[in-house]
Amino acid sequence: MLAEISRLDITSGQDWDQGVPNSTGKVVVVTGAATGIGHAIAKRFAADGYRVAIVDLDEESACAAAASIAEETGGSALAAFADVAEFESCCAAHDRIVSEFGPVSVLVNNAGIMAQRLGRIEALPPEHFDQLLAIHVRGAVNWARLVTSAMRDAQFGRIINISSGNAKLAVPYRLAYVTAKKAILGITEALALETARDGITVNAILPGYIATQTLLDRADAGILDKDSFAERTPVGRWGRPDEIARAAAFLADADSGFITGSTLVVDGGITIRGDPDEDLSHPPSPKS
Ligand SMILES: NC(=O)c1ccc[n+]([C@@H]2O[C@H](COP(=O)([O-])OP(=O)(O)OC[C@H]3O[C@@H](n4cnc5c(N)ncnc54)[C@H](O)[C@@H]3O)[C@@H](O)[C@H]2O)c1
Repeated sequence: MLAEISRLDITSGQDWDQGVPNSTGKVVVVTGAATGIGHAIAKRFAADGYRVAIVDLDEESACAAAASIAEETGGSALAAFADVAEFESCCAAHDRIVSEFGPVSVLVNNAGIMAQRLGRIEALPPEHFDQLLAIHVRGAVNWARLVTSAMRDAQFGRIINISSGNAKLAVPYRLAYVTAKKAILGITEALALETARDGITVNAILPGYIATQTLLDRADAGILDKDSFAERTPVGRWGRPDEIARAAAFLADADSGFITGSTLVVDGGITIRGDPDEDLSHPPSPKS
């Protein structure tokens, strides 16, 4: 066993030798990147030297995002329409990306729709359940199916799935969302094993409350309470989309090749908070 291990090339995946960042020229696909967390991830990758494909259902916003990201970072970005739930639509986007940018080395499965509180299971519309699973779960599988063979050929690849803190800490009345986000962990682990000998890593990021426009609009509409979400989060604030982007950039790095099948929780500590009523600002008096 020891002899076998010593035969392994522990330097594979590193290309810092010429003094260039290992991201330069690589192609990343970020789904659902027209807005929110996906947009921040796409921008971060463009700034790091990747060629970035922004895949989204909202074509107009995706084009605007590609233009602004290219202008702000000086990098390369293209917008490609796809409904991640529809394999044919993903194929068409993938063909275009490969012909314009080349094979994909990093995939970020981010596209999703946020949870709605829909009441008890008796009131859960079956079509809502199917839609959530089709976008979050089938969508992630569709894109992974498209990119893995080129990653195997290159003996390098990074697949990053955006799950949610709700995969760890379930909430009631959002059964479809919780199910979908937990299923993403299943995809992450099974695919990590399938691809582990091919230089491909597959990991999941679990964001906590992140201040995207979608959630800020909900706060403005009175659907959620911005302040109480911040208070419930141990660090006392919402996360920023660029903080998720930073985690994605770390997992995508060539030097992160020993991290696979793993979950990176980026949530300000909310999923480890056992007692939400415990006052984190003031220690209790010694007698209490
Ligand atoms: N914002 C948070 O607090 C938070 C927390 C945990 C997890 N997440 C997850 O992060 C991801 C991004 O969330 P966000 O807050 O940035 O949302 P967002 O609404 O700002 O952005 C989602 C993007 O996905 C796109 N999209 C939706 N359905 C699609 C489809 N079928 N095909 C292609 N594109 C599609 C939308 O057009 C949009 O551009 C989601 O998967 C979400 O579940 C978000």
